[in-house]
Amino acid sequence: MTITESANNPKAFQPGVDKSKSYQAKFKVWRGNSEGGELKDYTVEVNEGEVVLDIIFRIQAEQANDMSVRWNCKAGKCGSCSAEINGRPRLMCMTRMSSLPPGEEVVVTPMRTFPVIKDLVTDVSFNYEKAKQIPAFAPKPREADGTYRMAQVDVERGQEFRKCIECFMCQNVCHVIRDHEENKPAFAGPRFFIRLSELDMHPLDTNDRQKLAQEKHGLGMCNITKCCTEVCPEHIKITDNGIIPLKERVVDRKYDPLFKIFGLSNKKTNK
Ligand code: SF4
Ligand code: SF4
Ligand code: FES
Repeated sequence: MTITESANNPKAFQPGVDKSKSYQAKFKVWRGNSEGGELKDYTVEVNEGEVVLDIIFRIQAEQANDMSVRWNCKAGKCGSCSAEINGRPRLMCMTRMSSLPPGEEVVVTPMRTFPVIKDLVTDVSFNYEKAKQIPAFAPKPREADGTYRMAQVDVERGQEFRKCIECFMCQNVCHVIRDHEENKPAFAGPRFFIRLSELDMHPLDTNDRQKLAQEKHGLGMCNITKCCTEVCPEHIKITDNGIIPLKERVVDRKYDPLFKIFGLSNKKTNK
């Protein structure tokens, strides 16, 4: 990932732009560090086709050389440029200026759920700590012929969750931790519920993901508001396809007499 403070960012300039369609926009950008900060006003040129990250680059190049912003791919795939635009978590590189209300001021602030390092850059290490707490895929032994076998439908089921780019906007918007620092130790958050769900659906995985999700990662604290799903740039159905089925399997298991007596697995598989 890249934190730029340079005035020489070539992506800020686009030769061949039709300047007749350019206009001046008013931006408010949060400037500060872990000790505090404030919104600062900038009036800046916007050209046809530009995204919010282009405008941040232009402010950085022309008016605030010391402004910090994290970005890498400028293509919606690295998950680095997450911020709040007019109060809503968005990828700055994928938010076209033309998609924002015309003539209105644009307010850009860092993600609120994570501590600020500087300006628009937050410390998202909370998420890496949570990732470390989820045991890796643990496959059962191979078949007698040395292969693993699983149904195609099971292969496909996990693919949706693997599209995650770890932008952490779902984590940022989740009310369980957004305004409740005290919940962070006990709550992994939606990004990790889909990881647990993916592994729980995997017919070859041997770890008890349901127990882990419920007892160690706070699945019960999620009350299915679906805010996480609404902000996901990869359009992963976090709640409908990940969290709700995982909750259902946890409940099934709790009330399933066969599980109680024999400890049978209730993994959903078509194998
Ligand atoms: S559905 Fe659950 S995980 Fe997603 S934002 Fe709401 S409370 Fe958080
Ligand atoms: S699930 Fe979606 S919103 Fe959450 S981190 Fe992954 S890509 Fe981002
Ligand atoms: S810079 Fe990579 S997602 Fe925006």
